[in-house]
Amino acid sequence: MEADLSRRRFMGAVGATAASAAALSTLAADAAETAKSNSALKIVAVACSPRKGKTTAQALAICLEAAKAVAPERIEVELIELAGLKIPAELAAGVPLEDGQTDDFPAVAAKLSDPRLAAIVVGTPVYFAGMSALCKAFIDRFGMFRRDNFSLSGKIAGVLAVGGSRNGGQELAIQSVQAAMLCHEMLVVGDGRPTGHFGARLWNDGSDDISTDAFGVTTAKNLGRHVAEVAMGQKNTG
Ligand SMILES: Cc1cc2nc3c(=O)[nH]c(=O)nc-3n(C[C@H](O)[C@H](O)[C@H](O)COP(=O)(O)O)c2cc1C
Repeated sequence: MEADLSRRRFMGAVGATAASAAALSTLAADAAETAKSNSALKIVAVACSPRKGKTTAQALAICLEAAKAVAPERIEVELIELAGLKIPAELAAGVPLEDGQTDDFPAVAAKLSDPRLAAIVVGTPVYFAGMSALCKAFIDRFGMFRRDNFSLSGKIAGVLAVGGSRNGGQELAIQSVQAAMLCHEMLVVGDGRPTGHFGARLWNDGSDDISTDAFGVTTAKNLGRHVAEVAMGQKNTG
């Protein structure tokens, strides 16, 4: 009888130990998952061409791939294409929507409000030596983050521009977008070395296939890498 009781107590203790080991391992897995999501960084690229999937979007996809390669476990990337979206710029000036007019900006803004957001890369086609109208509408509406207590302050900003000429105003377009990002206390960075200049500057030779511009693609990769390294707090070792 006494032996039977001891055996039962022993088996109970073994069961309790196994149960607590399982609970501990679940807790450890939860903690690891939480730590991973806490340390995750998000880099979002916004393609401001009205033409979906064309050269600006292609170049940004290359840029994001290079950004992700810096730390695939920690960095999450997303490409948002504004093509096809309605971004009424006049709302930024307080002019109300007309009856039936729609506004897709709030959905874009929600993605940029993700607390994990570390960096934004804005890509614009060059239109008459400046940014596209869609890009300007985006920038004007983006002003809401400044009014929201500078909520993007300290986040990284990179800029990419694609023109139909090799030197068609890419740097001018890049600079005007960068100036807007500075108004948000964002930390503006250019493409990393060895190309190291104002940002990614690409040339669409008319084929609408950005891979034909080897140099431009290199600047897109260097921008993505540099944005990610700065966002991760790493020194750029080239
Ligand atoms: C209205 C308009 C103006 C343009 N102005 C310029 C320009 O000033 N400089 C330039 O290099 N390319 C210019 N382009 C060419 C575009 O920048 C080029 O085709 C670019 O690849 C378009 O980007 P996407 O393929 O993402 O639409 C212009 C195109 C349009 C439609």
